[in-house]
Amino acid sequence: RAASFRLLSRAAQSRATILVKTQVAIIGGGPAGLLLSRLLHLNGIDNVVLERRPREYVLSRIRAGVLEQGLVELLHEADVDKRLQAEGEVHAGFDIAFHGDVCHIDLAELTGGRNVVVYGQTEVTRDLYEALDAAEAKVIHEVDNVALHALDTDNPTVTFDLNGQKQQISAVFVAGCDGFHGPSRQAIPTSIRKDYELTYPFGWLGMLSETPPVGVELVYAGHESGFALCSMRSRMLSRYYVQCPIDDDVADWSDDRFWDELKSRLPTNVAGALVTGPSIEKSIAPLRSFVCEPMSWNRLFLAGDAAHIVPPTGAKGLNLAASDVYYLSRAFIDYFDRDNESPLEEYSGTALARVWKAERFSWWMTRLLHLFPDQNNFEQNLQAAEFDYLQGSLAAKATLAENYVGLEY
Ligand code: APR
Ligand code: PHB
Repeated sequence: RAASFRLLSRAAQSRATILVKTQVAIIGGGPAGLLLSRLLHLNGIDNVVLERRPREYVLSRIRAGVLEQGLVELLHEADVDKRLQAEGEVHAGFDIAFHGDVCHIDLAELTGGRNVVVYGQTEVTRDLYEALDAAEAKVIHEVDNVALHALDTDNPTVTFDLNGQKQQISAVFVAGCDGFHGPSRQAIPTSIRKDYELTYPFGWLGMLSETPPVGVELVYAGHESGFALCSMRSRMLSRYYVQCPIDDDVADWSDDRFWDELKSRLPTNVAGALVTGPSIEKSIAPLRSFVCEPMSWNRLFLAGDAAHIVPPTGAKGLNLAASDVYYLSRAFIDYFDRDNESPLEEYSGTALARVWKAERFSWWMTRLLHLFPDQNNFEQNLQAAEFDYLQGSLAAKATLAENYVGLEY
């Protein structure tokens, strides 16, 4: 089982290609790839993670930080939750506002005591790297030209360049955790693969600032000039978003302009409590709904953004990567430890069933709260009726809450 893994030993440098053997070759060192590696490692399954970027780059990406209980439990199982337990903030509810009306969603009450934990995705990634380092796991950064081969045979391989040297990994399985732009998904023949996609005619302008959050809970707001969100990373670090045209230039958004726009879209009491200050980071992200089917092909298994994207409304991206990793890690363990292939064969169907429900929820919440430039007056009134219904119906609130805390794995 031990892999003959070596990084450019002197003897190897003279050879054309360095050969490494492992059980699972994991492409991509984002949260999906790292968590999968960690869970496999803890179960004695040898694996190698190949990441295109330097670690500092991966840790500089700012992403949503709302963790479902399923993910919190998985991080506990992976023994990477010490800091999360100490620093993560339990959120038992949030506010959702529409054209000034505010509706409180009491997650705990509506779901029988479930909640979410606010803890940055960057911190989750950092904790995973630290645990993998401590266990001397094999995470190789700055690999180039990653390519997948012979996935429809019993001996798939992955080739890549490292420091100008060609390398090859021979594996039993390949896990494609390389995000939306990675090569793994493309390795499924187009005759087999079907992509499902929706794009949205706007983006999110995000800003991070060292200011206290506007309150203890998140506030989502739909307004006639567009969506706004007040989120946070800690007691002195706030994360805010406003909907903006997708072709806007961040350079045109001064801090003052951002704060003014945000304030104008928030309910009066929230705007009044907003503490402003200089921004640390500002960026514009597009919104997309995307699913690739199937999520596996012969020896290749996709997880996370490699297989699906959700718009950030509802913060399902990381959580969905986690449920994929939950199913996939168990399926690999069943294969290697129990000689049971069925969970791997069923992986795509199992994962997709949950993926589509999270896609539905993210799409629904996006439609409820954004200004759609080409919306006609009928659609505008439907949107208002949707919010009105939510505000007046316990069943509608419970449906929102059930999806927000995350459907069971
Ligand atoms: N070779 C090696 N690594 C690659 C390649 C490649 N050709 N292409 C991409 N990668 C790496 C990226 O640099 C990135 O670190 O794969 C990793 C994929 O990580 P993420 O994009 O973070 O995706 P994932 O791990 O599935 O995590 C899902 O992250 O993108 C957010 O909203 C998403 O919160 C969700 C979570
Ligand atoms: C964030 O904190 O970045 C965040 C929170 C909730 C979302 C999206 C983003 O729905």
